[in-house]
Amino acid sequence: MITLKQIKQNPKTKEFINQTEVYLDALSYTDHGERHLNIVADRARKIARHLNLSVHEQELAAIAGYCHDMGNFLGRTQHHYWSSFLFSQVFMSEINNPNDITSIMQAIASHDKNELKIVNKITACLILADKSDVHRTRVKEKNMNKIKTDIHNRVNYSVTKNDFKINKNKKQIILKLNIDTKITKPMDYFEIFLERMTFCKEAAKFLKYDFVLIINNFKLS
Ligand SMILES: [Fe+2]
Ligand SMILES: [Fe+2]
Repeated sequence: MITLKQIKQNPKTKEFINQTEVYLDALSYTDHGERHLNIVADRARKIARHLNLSVHEQELAAIAGYCHDMGNFLGRTQHHYWSSFLFSQVFMSEINNPNDITSIMQAIASHDKNELKIVNKITACLILADKSDVHRTRVKEKNMNKIKTDIHNRVNYSVTKNDFKINKNKKQIILKLNIDTKITKPMDYFEIFLERMTFCKEAAKFLKYDFVLIINNFKLS
C-alpha cells in the first residue's frame, strides 16, 4: 500500500500543489496549499482513527485529505473532479487494490459536489476535515482592506480559535469556533458556514454521529 509519505514525495503531486497555490493566490483565495492540505490530512486520519477504521483506511483518509485540492490549478468550479482524476492518473499503477483507488477518487470528487451522496467512510472523514478548516491562518491576503472586502477572507480572518473534537460516548462531532465579531458580521459567517455545515452534518450522519457547531460558546446545531 502506498503511504502519504510517498504521495508527498511524488514530484507531480508537489507540482500540482505548487501550481494550485500560484493560481489561487492570483485569485486572492484563502490557503489551499501545504498548510490546508496537511491540516486536512491530519484531521481526516484522526477522525478515521477515532471511528476505529483500520490503519489502512486511516492512511487512505489521510491521502485523500492531502490530495483533495490539488486540481484547483485547472479551474476552481470543478476542482473536486480535476483533483480526483489527477490522483488516479498519477497513482493508478502504483496502487494495487482497485478499491483503494475508487475510495480515494470518490472521496476527493465528493468533497465539493452539489449532488452530495456519501457512500463510504473515507468520503465522510475527508468532508469533515476539509469543511472544518476555517481559521485566521488560512488567509494569505495581507492587505486589511482587501481582507474586509472578500467574504471568505473576512470570515476566515475573524476565526481566532478552531477546536475540533469527537465525543464517542455522546456520538458527537464537535466544531468549536471563536469568532471576532468586530471583523465580520454574524450574517457573513452564516452565509458561508451554512453550506459547509450542511456538508459536515451529512458526513456526520453517515458515520452515525451528530454534528455540533459551537460559535462563541453558542450552540448552533
Ligand atoms: Fe476543495
Ligand atoms: Fe479544501
